[in-house]
Order: sequence, then C-alpha cells, then structure tokens
Amino acid sequence: MSKMIPLSEPRLNGKEWTYVKDCLDTGWVSTAGKYVERLENKISSYTKCKYAVAVNSGTSALQIALQLVGVGEDDEVIVPTVTFIAPVNAIRYHRAYPVFMDCDDYYNIDVEKTTDFILKETVFKNGFSINRSTKRKVKAVLPVHVFGNAAKLHELTKLCRKRNIKIVEDATESLGTFYKTGEHSGTLGDVGCLSFNGNKIITAGGGGMILTNTQKYAQRAHYWTTQAKDDALRYIHNDIGFNFRLNNLQAAMGVAQLESLSQILKVKKRNYECYKKLIDSLEGLRLADAPDYAHNNYWMYALQLEKKTYGCDKEALLSRLNDAGIQSRPLWYLNHLQKPFKKCQAYHIKKAKKMLDITLNIPCSATLKQEHIKRIGQFLENKK
Ligand SMILES: Cc1ncc(COP(=O)(O)O)c(C=O)c1O
Repeated sequence: MSKMIPLSEPRLNGKEWTYVKDCLDTGWVSTAGKYVERLENKISSYTKCKYAVAVNSGTSALQIALQLVGVGEDDEVIVPTVTFIAPVNAIRYHRAYPVFMDCDDYYNIDVEKTTDFILKETVFKNGFSINRSTKRKVKAVLPVHVFGNAAKLHELTKLCRKRNIKIVEDATESLGTFYKTGEHSGTLGDVGCLSFNGNKIITAGGGGMILTNTQKYAQRAHYWTTQAKDDALRYIHNDIGFNFRLNNLQAAMGVAQLESLSQILKVKKRNYECYKKLIDSLEGLRLADAPDYAHNNYWMYALQLEKKTYGCDKEALLSRLNDAGIQSRPLWYLNHLQKPFKKCQAYHIKKAKKMLDITLNIPCSATLKQEHIKRIGQFLENKK
C-alpha cells in the first residue's frame, strides 16, 4: 500500500530549528523571553490589529475573550452548531449558555438567521438584548471562520453594536484570510482568537493569540492570562488569574512559521485549485467554494458528495478513503446534538444537517504534492 497521506500535517522547513535552539542555548525556555513578544508584534502587524496577546491555546484565547466582553453566569452567547466544540465549551466555562445557530453555504454562521433571531427573539431592555423565551441576556455572538472561510460579519457588527451584543471571533482556522475590504478575519468584532495547534495553517506546537483593537481589553487579557499579578515582586493579586501564557519555545516556532506563512498560503491556494479542477469534473462530487468577498487561506478542503449521483454515501466513502491511506474525516458532529448541549436553544437548524450529510474533509497539508492530489483524484474516480 502507498504511504498514508495525512489530513493536515505541519510544514516545518523554515527557521524553526534555529529559533528553538536559540531558546535552548540561552536558557529562555519558559513564558518569558524575546520570542513571545516578537510573535505578538509580528501577528499584530500582519493582521493590522492594534494588540495581540499570546496565550497557550486557542481555547484559552476564547475563554479569556468571552470574559473580556463581560460574558458571565446565566448569560447567552450565539454560536454556530457547525464548529469544533472548543468555542462552545468556552461559553460553558463561564456558566453561560450557547444559543445554536444554523450555517450558510460556506459552513459559517448563518448571518441572516442570526439577525432574525436578534430582531425577533430578543427585546432590547435596560441596555441589554433579552432572549424572550429564556429571559437571559444575549451578551455576545461568537462566529467561527470555518475552514478559513471568512464569515459575513460587516452588517451583523452594526446590528450588534446597536443591541449591545459583543462579537468574539473564532479565527483559529483563518489566519491569512483577509476580507476584500482589507480587514483580517478576527479583527472586525470586539475580540478575535487565533490558534497555533499542530493542524492549523501555521503551528507553534500549541498556542493561541487574542486580537483586539481595544487597549483596555489587551491589558486585561495580559493580566488575566499571567495570574493577575498586581505587584509581581510582592505577589499581590487583586483578581483571579490563569496560567495561560505562551512559552518562549512555542513562540520561537511560531515566529519561524509566520515567516513561512505567505509561502504556505500560496501552496494551499495552488492545491485547492488543483483539487477543484479534478474533483468538480467527477459526477456527484464537488469541492466546496470559498466566499468571493474574501481572500481565503484555504486551510481545510471540504469535499461535498451527492449520494444518488456518486453512488455511495459519505460514511462509505469515508471508510474507503481511510482504508486506502487517504486520511479523511467527516464534518464535526453538530454541537446542538452533543450530550452537554442537547437542552440548549437551537434556532431553526436545517442547512447544518444537510452539510453534515454531504461533507468530508480531505488531505490539505501544505506538504501535499501534486502526485498526492492526483492519487486522491484517481481514487475518487474509481468507485470500487
Ligand atoms: C474552530 C476552532 N476553535 C477553537 C479551536 C481550539 O484551538 P486550540 O486547539 O488551540 O485550543 C480549534 C482547533 O483546535 C478550532 O478548530
């Protein structure tokens, strides 16, 4: 059997060794050291976001982001049902509740339905948007830029501002995705979150970043993620803090990876186009489009299958692909159906169910070669 083609593996051919070795040689291996600030500054200038605060994971970034915008016990946050579960869990870390929203054609939060929900299902009272059915305050919307596709947020941002609903963007999958209007994904709302997990477009082995244009948020983020030190020398803490800071070794890797980002983005786009040509020519299959209002990072590729025409269903194809050493996975199971969230409100979810039925993710690493894509194309063509 040919070698396994992984779904998403890191591409480590820049200065990773050099920078990590520098940390080891100089002894700066923990949360202090020049690479942490260097990564923050580089991300801030790349995304054109005023402040970037480095943390130990995308999940920590989300947890702190929600705290920054004031989400607390018994509040509600509108979140898509189609996403990796991390942002949904982050809502519950604050003892707040998710309100699940449907997805659009790009797997992102359905902005029309979200608008509808805010206008029809909430009432604006004493400065807050109150959910008519639960009587809870809807404090935030948490859109996720799924697979690197930019969520359509410009109009929603205006409505949310009027209704005192904050926007926390999960941009963990969309580093490198810019709207054609110029903004980087994750910088339209109040706070944005990045991840440097191993499967992301660039990796630090693990880690994340909080993005914000609000100085007060940046200061609080730094304070809370470093144990809330009011006097670091005398151990004075006036609030509850967390040990969420990124370490220098991870940041060193992150800096090296960021230097390769433009190259990685080129390869991802080229591979997407190559896949698209092959797959769209096959009956019953297509590669999901990217929104035309943004420059996509093409982080993850979504294969869509029409069972009748293609001749087998998603589950059968998934097994065949994995058996043949082409690592693939289904779309995340819908979060409003997950055990901890079954009782939470879900707003007219329809498209997400369809997308779950027809979608598979196929290998997307920046290490992918043309011969791999050809092999995958041939495999998909040969249905036996
Ligand atoms: C949409 C989404 N949100 C959040 C996360 C969490 O990021 P991390 O693994 O860095 O905690 C991930 C991926 O891991 C993700 O895909």
